[in-house]
Amino acid sequence: MFFKALLQASLALPLLYTTASAQTACNNSPSLCDKAYNNITHLGAHNSPFLRDSTTSFSTSGNQYYNTRTQLESGVRLLSGQVHKKNNTSGNSAWHMCHSSCDLLDAGTLEEWLSEIKSWMDSNPNDVVTVLLVNSDNASPAELGASFESTGLDKLAYSPPSLSQPPETWPTLQSLISNGTRLMTFVASLTPSAQYPYLMDEFTFIFENDFENETPTAYSCTPNRPSPLTTEQAATSGRMFFMNHFLYSVQLFGIQSPNDTYIGTTNAQTGLGSLGEAITSCTGVYSKPPTFVLVDFFNVGPAIGSVDTANSVSNPTGRRSAPAEVLQETSGVSRQQGSMFAVVVAVVAAISFGM
Ligand SMILES: *[C@@H]1O[C@H](CO)[C@@H](O)[C@H](O)[C@H]1NC(C)=O
Ligand SMILES: *[C@@H]1O[C@H](CO)[C@@H](O)[C@H](O)[C@H]1NC(C)=O
Ligand SMILES: *[C@@H]1O[C@H](CO)[C@@H](O)[C@H](O)[C@H]1NC(C)=O
Ligand SMILES: *[C@@H]1O[C@H](CO)[C@@H](O)[C@H](O)[C@H]1NC(C)=O
Ligand SMILES: *[C@@H]1O[C@H](CO)[C@@H](O)[C@H](O)[C@H]1NC(C)=O
Repeated sequence: MFFKALLQASLALPLLYTTASAQTACNNSPSLCDKAYNNITHLGAHNSPFLRDSTTSFSTSGNQYYNTRTQLESGVRLLSGQVHKKNNTSGNSAWHMCHSSCDLLDAGTLEEWLSEIKSWMDSNPNDVVTVLLVNSDNASPAELGASFESTGLDKLAYSPPSLSQPPETWPTLQSLISNGTRLMTFVASLTPSAQYPYLMDEFTFIFENDFENETPTAYSCTPNRPSPLTTEQAATSGRMFFMNHFLYSVQLFGIQSPNDTYIGTTNAQTGLGSLGEAITSCTGVYSKPPTFVLVDFFNVGPAIGSVDTANSVSNPTGRRSAPAEVLQETSGVSRQQGSMFAVVVAVVAAISFGM
């Protein structure tokens, strides 16, 4: 009886994952394998480890409803997060993933977060993943590098030919995969070190538009960082375009938190201040789509829709669809989500018990 239920549960699995030839796809599509790393658009989860879910009591400091692993399973390929130095009561310090301050939202150590990414990458060998660390307390390359080494992520990391200027061409996804260098790591900001050649200073390789947007009419394609860089200079500098696309709402005392009431439009393909329209507009400015787009609550929209359009991907494989709703403490969505995860757990249990 019990096994029969498990068998039924395992038949439900294809509903959660799209099947087909995941082994020949790169980042969910065979059509992306031969494209250069900078010639595709990577969906980014802004503040990936900072969650607005039951684990944080739905903290308003959270930028995502689903954790890093679910983000990766759903097609997110760029993960950003802030690294802070946290002192403990015995006078020691450790590097933690914290939002603005470790008192506000502490998502655990850098090492734990990198382990989560390493574990997903180990079981998904045809995917190229990008990590962007905001270096809030000026960690040195050696301090950051220690966590890459202890988790083994350094072994998967790509090192550019030069740490002081962008390469003329970036490798294709397939060559990164074949070479076993499927992790791109950027740090904002860092004085590069030849001993840690995979830790790339973000603004040497990337330029960003403004991220401080509080109304849906405020988005701009104009370079904001590194400063000063004109649109013309940015376009010819060889840097990749990183498009921030998220909206803040302003609380008392000017404190900013993600605007979750407008997120359905912010992450949509069309509408005032939508991701889809912003990509189209910036594609016009730079004559190519942004290499990265960074969003809050990636599952809403869903944001991946506009990214697939930018990449001309119509049949993504090996991807899970997270529910596209806003997650709220008391909503039915979180309960449904709970039972969906229960099914997955049951199936995994069934597989590991050899049935
Ligand atoms: C990348 O895009 C440029 C045009 O922007 C093109 O000339 C080049 O062939 C492309 N390379 C690859 C490998 O995708
Ligand atoms: C941690 O300790 C160092 C020196 O002991 C101090 O400079 C720093 O401000 C402390 N950081 C926090 C967040 O308390
Ligand atoms: C403080 O940090 C050190 C080094 O990370 C660790 O060994 C120790 O257990 C921590 N102590 C407390 C009280 O958390
Ligand atoms: C792949 O590795 C080889 C040997 O280390 C190196 O010469 C080549 O440049 C690498 N290719 C890419 C795309 O990184
Ligand atoms: C979110 O943005 C929309 C559009 O500007 C605005 O109408 C709404 O009041 C904002 N929500 C919050 C919570 O600030």
